[in-house]
Amino acid sequence: MISTDPFPTKLPIGTESPAVADWDHFLKAFFGTDPLPPSTLQAVFEPLRQMSDNSMMVIAQIGQTLDGRIATVTGQSKYINGQDGLVHLHRLRALVDAVVVGVETAITDDPLLTVRLVNGQSPARIVIDPRGRLASNAKVWQQDGVRKIWVTSEDQAVFAPPEVENLALPLTDGQIDPKNLLQRLQQIGISRVLIEGGAKTVSGFLQAKCLHHLHLIVAPIVMGSGRPSFELPPILHMDQATRMSTSTHVLGNDVLFACNLRKDSLVL
Ligand SMILES: NC(=O)c1ccc[n+]([C@@H]2O[C@H](COP(=O)([O-])OP(=O)(O)OC[C@H]3O[C@@H](n4cnc5c(N)ncnc54)[C@H](OP(=O)(O)O)[C@@H]3O)[C@@H](O)[C@H]2O)c1
Repeated sequence: MISTDPFPTKLPIGTESPAVADWDHFLKAFFGTDPLPPSTLQAVFEPLRQMSDNSMMVIAQIGQTLDGRIATVTGQSKYINGQDGLVHLHRLRALVDAVVVGVETAITDDPLLTVRLVNGQSPARIVIDPRGRLASNAKVWQQDGVRKIWVTSEDQAVFAPPEVENLALPLTDGQIDPKNLLQRLQQIGISRVLIEGGAKTVSGFLQAKCLHHLHLIVAPIVMGSGRPSFELPPILHMDQATRMSTSTHVLGNDVLFACNLRKDSLVL
């Protein structure tokens, strides 16, 4: 049956669905300069197009439960989101130059961070690991020809595995400044960045006002315990909370909150 809604909110997914052809067409158009034809994909992903050739685009993605958890108390998070949510994540990966994770995610999940569920190129893989804790046999370091960057503190000597570049940055109050990191990435040709977790890493970018977009995918699950999606300094009043301009989209049983943070972002 053909939908009469010109902008249906349900993202069609699945390897056997016509969305595969839609996606391939959309992906090609996304990196071109022509306006994107109206479609479900355009409605969700058009805001992620860069404003100009030399501008940055920084998006964070989180998959959480109804009660705002991204992992169990033991750190297990596979899988909170359903297949549609996972496809959405792989689409995001295909639209960026690089995906960034904190070292806890790289250790706990041992993720590949490649594009597998949709067509598209796998982005560079970047791990923020100030103390150089990540093992050389971590899957993110697999030798597949994709660019890999190990972001460490400049005080920490590391021996980078084959194919892995080391980007050593100063610490400010024990932290790598997200803005400094983004500027350094831009200098080496990386201007579309997906911050994929975990909570500490995404929160650091949010607190530093270094995000243009946040895609929060909420699954109909209650964990009742576990790790929260964000770890930010306490606030006393609701007017201190970050309110987001958002659109919502149905992803199977999950709901995507596509939040636009551009007006507050300090990153150009
Ligand atoms: N549901 C989801 O969408 C999702 C996505 C990703 C991960 N996860 C889950 O999240 C959990 C891990 O999250 P997490 O919050 O514990 O850790 P995380 O964000 O993965 O990693 C945090 C660590 O990375 C380093 N780091 C990150 N940003 C830094 C900065 N700006 N400056 C200095 N160091 C920085 C620090 O390493 P040091 O500790 O060495 O200083 C920090 O403790 C896992 O259980 C994983 O399964 C869930």
